Amino acid sequence: MPDAVQMTVHQLAESLGNAIDAKDHCTRSHSEEVAVITQAIGLQMGLSPRSADILHIAGHLHDIGKIGIPDSILKKRGPLTDEEFAVIKQHPAMGAAIIEPVTCLSGKNGIMKMVLHHHERFDGRGYPDGLAGEDIPLGARVIAVADSLSAMLQDRPYRRARDYENAVAEIERCAGTQFDPRIVSAFMEVRDTVRGYLLSMREMCAPL
Ligand SMILES: [Fe+2]
Ligand SMILES: [Fe+2]
Repeated sequence: MPDAVQMTVHQLAESLGNAIDAKDHCTRSHSEEVAVITQAIGLQMGLSPRSADILHIAGHLHDIGKIGIPDSILKKRGPLTDEEFAVIKQHPAMGAAIIEPVTCLSGKNGIMKMVLHHHERFDGRGYPDGLAGEDIPLGARVIAVADSLSAMLQDRPYRRARDYENAVAEIERCAGTQFDPRIVSAFMEVRDTVRGYLLSMREMCAPL
C-alpha cells in the first residue's frame, strides 16, 4: 500500500488496539507492546523495514477479536471452565472477521491471517486450526512470541507478572514446542533492545 495509506492504517490499527486494551487495566499497552516487539524481531530476522511495519500493524490488531468476548470471561479471576475457554478461543476468528472489510488488512500483506493464527503453536497444538511449523504464517509465529512475552510481564487477576529474565527464559524453554525456534533465536538477539523499548513505554508497572 502507498506510504500515506500505510501511515493512516497504522494509526487506525493503533487506535483499535488501544480500544481493546482499554477494556482491562491489566492489559494496558499490551497491543502496543506486541506491535513493537514483533517489529523488532521481524527486523532482526532480515525482513525489509516495510514488511516489519506490516508485522507492527498486525501486532496492534492481534487481539481485536476480544471486543466480542464477554468481560465476565475476559476478566474472570481464577481458572476458566472448558466452555469459557471455548469462547475465548473464538477471538482470533472474530478479529479476522472484524478487519476483513478493510481491503488493505485482508489482502496479500497477510495481516488478517496473522490475526487469525496468532494462537497457533509450532507443534500444532494451538488454535483455531491446529496448524504446525511453517504452515503457520510467519507473522503469526512472530506475534505468538511477542504476545507471550508481553503477557508474562503483566499482572493478571490470577498471577503476578514475571520479571524480564524469567519471562525470557520461559520463551527459550518453549522453543520448538510453542514457538518457532528460529524466531526465538532472533528474539534472543534483540532481547536487550526489546527490554529498553518496554522500559521506555511503561511509566509504572511490573519490574522488568
Ligand atoms: Fe504503532
Ligand atoms: Fe490473543
